[in-house]
Amino acid sequence: MYKLVIQGGKPLKGTLKVSGSKNSSLPILFASILADTPITLNNTPQLSDISTTLRLLSSMGSEWILESDSSLFVDSSTLTNLTADYDLVKTMRASILVLGPMLAKYGKAKVSLPGGCAIGTRPVNLHLQALEKLGANIEVRNGYIYAKTKGLIGTEIHFEQISVTATENIIMAATLAKGLTTISNAAQEPEISDLCQCLNKMGAKITGIGTSVLNIKGVKNLNGIQYSVCPDRIESATYLVAAAITRGAVTVKNTNPQVMHAVLEKLIEIGANIKTDKNSITLDMEGKRPKAVNIKTSTYPNFPTDMQAQFTALNTIAEGHSVITENIFENRFMHIPELIRMGADLTLEGNTVVCKGVKSLTGAHLMATDLRASASLVLAGLAAKGTTTIERVYHLDRGYETIEEKLKLLGADIERVQD
Ligand code: EPZ
Repeated sequence: MYKLVIQGGKPLKGTLKVSGSKNSSLPILFASILADTPITLNNTPQLSDISTTLRLLSSMGSEWILESDSSLFVDSSTLTNLTADYDLVKTMRASILVLGPMLAKYGKAKVSLPGGCAIGTRPVNLHLQALEKLGANIEVRNGYIYAKTKGLIGTEIHFEQISVTATENIIMAATLAKGLTTISNAAQEPEISDLCQCLNKMGAKITGIGTSVLNIKGVKNLNGIQYSVCPDRIESATYLVAAAITRGAVTVKNTNPQVMHAVLEKLIEIGANIKTDKNSITLDMEGKRPKAVNIKTSTYPNFPTDMQAQFTALNTIAEGHSVITENIFENRFMHIPELIRMGADLTLEGNTVVCKGVKSLTGAHLMATDLRASASLVLAGLAAKGTTTIERVYHLDRGYETIEEKLKLLGADIERVQD
């Protein structure tokens, strides 16, 4: 196992290129199951979640080749094993995204229930209910989902609760269903639009992309294509917060400011000077201490839950009081006790954290627990006085490609060392 050792207090300065989106790469890799010929996916990030996805696809009979640092050739055209095993699914909940494509292409699937994780129980009821409406027969027993269908039939599906991957599962299932499927109250995250654009390039007929009402006209088959994944907006925002918390000045390139308005508004509110162009964002704190900001997480295009932990870290050293409310997951506060151990003044009340900004944090020995909580601890360590050690960095490697290399490029004093 590895840990990160950070000597804090250095303002980050410089330019870095962000990677492709994890949460767009995953559904698109699973969409390869729908295609009759191989796909080539460019701008894919080198992350452990991507390797897990490729291992899962291989276990089902897919073949893939890493053609370059970020280009993947994936042939899932003839699966030989329609089971997604527990030991792979338990490490990555997004594995549930095999269900829709397998049902649509093969009419059957056996998928381990993903189970919960550090941030919540993470049920999949919305996925299963919607697939049943499309004509799937679903049974859950012994920790597995047994699904089969004589052929999916397009229908109207309204999600009572917005769910990103449930929306993605149904979109993929509907592409090969018979007739028209209308999804209302669909999630509108940019990664869903990226998936839809890729599916349409494969021959799907999806309209309403980017809105909460999607119409998908089923087609006979889909073909493999070349596609380039959209930039990772959460990685981009995390590095902007790294600049803000260290009072530095950083430019993030190969990103898309058009899908980050809610986060950029908050960065302007903390007192950062923000400049954007088509595919880059520059944040300059001009050496100033950030001002505290209130945060309420919600679904896109509102403030993303995946940036809550990072902004909580920022608020711990900001000027003034702030209230952070987590409205999406029931337990996305695993970073709070660790930040308190660094001297943060945080009080947790239900799904809300009350924060009183302190002048500075002090380095400490910390434990990472989940992907974004770990990012929050790295940000706190970059700003803290003294040394911060963060154990179990495998959580970080799920969603941040070579985080210590990118931070070193910006002047951070950070090392990855073996435990
Ligand atoms: C996706 O998870 C993302 N993962 C998450 O990113 C992100 O935090 C989340 O959307 C919210 O934006 C991927 O895209 C791979 P949801 P997902 O279904 O789809 C409840 C990261 O850090 N719910 O939109 O699993 C659920 O418990 C990860 O990159 C049900 O009750 O999230 C949650 O409270 C973490 N039943 C809420 O809905 C269901 O069947 C939203 O979850 C499904 C979800």
